[in-house]
Amino acid sequence: MTDDCPHFHVLKTDSDTGARRARLHTRHGAIETPIFMPVGTQGTVKAMTPVQLREIGAQVILGNTYHLNLRPTSELIAELGGLHRFMGWDGPILTDSGGFQVFSLAKLRKLRDDGVAFQSHLDGKKLFLGPREVVDIQSRLGSDIAMVLDECPPWPCERGPCAEAVARSARWAEQCLAHARDTGFFERGQLLFGIAQGSTYDDLRREAAESLAALPFSGYAVGGVSVGEPEDEMLKQVAATIPHLPAHKPRYTMGLGTPPQMLKMIALGVDMFDCVLPSRVARHGLVFTPDGPLNLRNAVHTRDPRPISEEVVNYTTQFSRSYLRHLIQAGEILGCTLLTLHNLHFYLDLMAQARAHIEAGDYASWHRAWCARYEAQ
Ligand code: GUN
Repeated sequence: MTDDCPHFHVLKTDSDTGARRARLHTRHGAIETPIFMPVGTQGTVKAMTPVQLREIGAQVILGNTYHLNLRPTSELIAELGGLHRFMGWDGPILTDSGGFQVFSLAKLRKLRDDGVAFQSHLDGKKLFLGPREVVDIQSRLGSDIAMVLDECPPWPCERGPCAEAVARSARWAEQCLAHARDTGFFERGQLLFGIAQGSTYDDLRREAAESLAALPFSGYAVGGVSVGEPEDEMLKQVAATIPHLPAHKPRYTMGLGTPPQMLKMIALGVDMFDCVLPSRVARHGLVFTPDGPLNLRNAVHTRDPRPISEEVVNYTTQFSRSYLRHLIQAGEILGCTLLTLHNLHFYLDLMAQARAHIEAGDYASWHRAWCARYEAQ
């Protein structure tokens, strides 16, 4: 195996932690890592326009195979020129493969060796997703980074079923890769990431990572984290997986996390994150600050003339806490837009700070101080 990866360049490795500063090239432009990817499940990052996303520094966004293939369908999106043109976003798009969402959303799921049969949560229609289907759907969507089909075991999970999920996920990953090769996926410049499962079993995590690492995926994800386990357990699982993934390829933890969790995972060597948390909680009035989260629904903010934070500057921080609270209490759409913009900017700016501190060589002390302040309240 060579240590050469044409689409991923590690620019600097931190000497005190596992953190690295790198650049991931996609056919819709380069992504500076470590990076947070705003989630746009249904072809929109809720409450945000693509221009607003650009303005707050979004480099890459997420879409979802499960949702987009049910509605409006990947065929329709292909007919309209692919997901980028359809949604008016010309930067990189990563799409999840859909298996995870089948387990959390679909009705009457049936796991088979060749994939998963289920009924749509929208209209009950009988559908099937297998390794070939998820690659074909992500081809039609025009994803820059596609994910393999995997089986994410619940938490807690007995060892036997977990070992089966790891074995099934490994077979599906290999079949996705073969089908991608056969259908010109890589010639079109699309990338395909493997996903390592293994729940809380360190040896299964290692086995999952090593079997994927033996195959030429464009990058690797840690799946099955943040599924209900305590935070120290989650960090342990990421720590048990990362060392067994190739150092010269991108590493992504799926569905994570809070600001301190992301900084701790960067120190473990993670490059990419996605999470609905900042946008979802924004719609309920929760905003992030360097001193921890702030709930604008609390009555103490009724007459508060201060901005969300004196230190954070974005379009939303020109408004008073009082006004933002009023918008959320009144159910106004603008409240969702302004708070989502703030929270996503907070996450993206945190990643920009992390990149700068890795470059400056003081990531270890900086991230410890950042987390101590954030977690002090
Ligand atoms: N999103 C969050 N966790 C997971 C996972 O384990 N697998 C997939 N495919 N998507 C996820």
